[in-house]
Amino acid sequence: MNQILRINDLCKSFVLHTQGGTKIDVFSDLNLELSGGEAIAITGPSGMGKSSLLKIIYGSYKSDSGEVLVKHQDEWCNIPDCSPREMIALREAEIGYVSQFLRVIPRVSTLDIVAEPILHLGKLDAEKRAGELLERLNIPQNLWQLSPTTFSGGEQQRVNIARGFAKIRPLLLLDEPTASLDAINRAVVLDMINEARLEGSAILGVYHNIEDREKVSSGECNLANFREAA
Ligand SMILES: Nc1ncnc2c1ncn2[C@@H]1O[C@H](COP(=O)(O)OP(=O)(O)O)[C@@H](O)[C@H]1O
Ligand SMILES: [Mg+2]
Repeated sequence: MNQILRINDLCKSFVLHTQGGTKIDVFSDLNLELSGGEAIAITGPSGMGKSSLLKIIYGSYKSDSGEVLVKHQDEWCNIPDCSPREMIALREAEIGYVSQFLRVIPRVSTLDIVAEPILHLGKLDAEKRAGELLERLNIPQNLWQLSPTTFSGGEQQRVNIARGFAKIRPLLLLDEPTASLDAINRAVVLDMINEARLEGSAILGVYHNIEDREKVSSGECNLANFREAA
């Protein structure tokens, strides 16, 4: 199997320095392996660390100990050891991430936000692909030149998804991608996830309901199993 992700004995806690140094243990000794074409759902109650795990894999959060190995150009890179420069290269080539909420620079148009990851194709082709994605996700064309900062939650989430899927990477991290969507758009997004998997991507996702989870994933990693008894 073409493994892309291998997590060994990963531990995560937060220390709240501004609140008396309170320590929150999130998970410990987490192990997970993921191959291309495979889709695993991260499950567990709210606050179990699902979003934190995705952020660690994307290199936005630090971990306490353990390894997060991502395959890059036939070598395993350990995310916690990567320099910022290596992390940028790794993200560009290997890791797509759709965060729970869209965070964008004000005044950049929706079309530019979606086209940005694929500008290497040339501006025209990048905008063409971005437009196709926005159309598929039912973002009306009269909004494409506007910044999404004033869009509804569901519209922002669809812009976020369009950007995350503009370039299909070998590893896709999805944090509740369908949470604020209506039934029609949810179905579109679930189709897009399955298409990416069939093209060979490995999908690690958090889904807010069981129906969505079952439509796109074949296995489950329940974080409640990696929480130490308090
Ligand atoms: N940046 C942060 N600083 C401090 N604590 C955090 C931070 N991010 C998450 N946490 C805490 O870590 C725990 C797990 O959060 P999260 O990963 O968002 O859970 P989930 O996505 O499963 O709901 C929660 O108790 C949360 O309060
Ligand atoms: Mg979360």
